[in-house]
Amino acid sequence: MEVEDYTSKIKSLEKENRILKKKLERSEIDRSKLEAADRNKETLLKKVICDLQEYQSILEKKSNDLEQTLTNLSLMQNKLVEAEKMAALGGLVAGVAHEINTPVGTSITLASTLRDETQLLSTLIETGCLKKSLLKHYLEIATEVSCLILSNLNRAGELVQSFKQVAVDQSSSERRSFKVKEYIQEVIISILPQFKQNLCKVSISGDDTMQIYSYPGALAQVITNFINNSILHAYLPNKIGNISIYIQQESDQVIIQYRDDGSGIDPEIFGRIYDPFFTTARDKGGTGLGLHITYNLVTQKLQGSIDCESELGKGTIFTGLFWV
Ligand SMILES: Nc1ncnc2c1ncn2[C@@H]1O[C@H](COP(=O)(O)OP(=O)(O)OP(=O)(O)O)[C@@H](O)[C@H]1O
Ligand SMILES: [Mg+2]
Repeated sequence: MEVEDYTSKIKSLEKENRILKKKLERSEIDRSKLEAADRNKETLLKKVICDLQEYQSILEKKSNDLEQTLTNLSLMQNKLVEAEKMAALGGLVAGVAHEINTPVGTSITLASTLRDETQLLSTLIETGCLKKSLLKHYLEIATEVSCLILSNLNRAGELVQSFKQVAVDQSSSERRSFKVKEYIQEVIISILPQFKQNLCKVSISGDDTMQIYSYPGALAQVITNFINNSILHAYLPNKIGNISIYIQQESDQVIIQYRDDGSGIDPEIFGRIYDPFFTTARDKGGTGLGLHITYNLVTQKLQGSIDCESELGKGTIFTGLFWV
């Protein structure tokens, strides 16, 4: 080999060496970059783990809070259900007072007439001015007035009796045998006076003799909620409404159909009417529990089912079906 060959070989080796050195330098840089990236990743990962742990504890706290809120909510709901029952009972008492006022007031007036006539009679006897015709007149008045007093007091007695039963049924949850039509009539009489501006007529049709063994308190509350809703939601003030209730029994099944000819329920909210606290009348004091309670009473207490049909501008029909 010539010297020149060696020189050129050395040069080429030197060149290769330089290239390799550069490559080495570059991979050194890449390695340190990778190491730095690794370190970054590790820090990032640690941070992510840290954040995750924090989120987890926040989530745990939140779910504890949520559980507590849920417990409070169901306690509140129970209290509201009780309050609603008490409000219904309060309304019932107001109804009793209003209904009984008339026969008792009339009886007082009649009794004072009888007292005046009797006093007049005794003066006539004392002064010796009693004539047969005056005595006859007195006897006629006394007979008529005492008959009227008796019938008015009988009416008051009947009202007290039926109200007593409705009130007891509403506060207790006893199962007993009762005549459905008569009972619903008593419920209607007892709640209508609460609605002073009410112009609705409520009629009930179906078998007078139908007697069932069931929960009258639950039935009373269901009917009360339906009537409340029609008066509150279905009719504008001063609008005359027609509400009809139809009862029917088919072997062990009782069907009660309640119908109003009011505004109907907007299809947009129709699917939510049984939801607890759903109301379109919060400004008028609605709590949104009425139909929720009604649904529970029919499906749980009465072991039945409830169905609603409604058409805007035409009215609403609730059909309850339960076993006896
Ligand atoms: N007969 C009806 N006609 C028109 N809308 C009705 C009728 N019954 C119920 N609704 C609608 O269904 C909603 C829910 O009724 P629900 O009885 O549960 O609550 P509420 O009457 O608003 O309040 P609450 O009964 O607790 O006082 C009402 O707010 C109303 O919009
Ligand atoms: Mg209601």
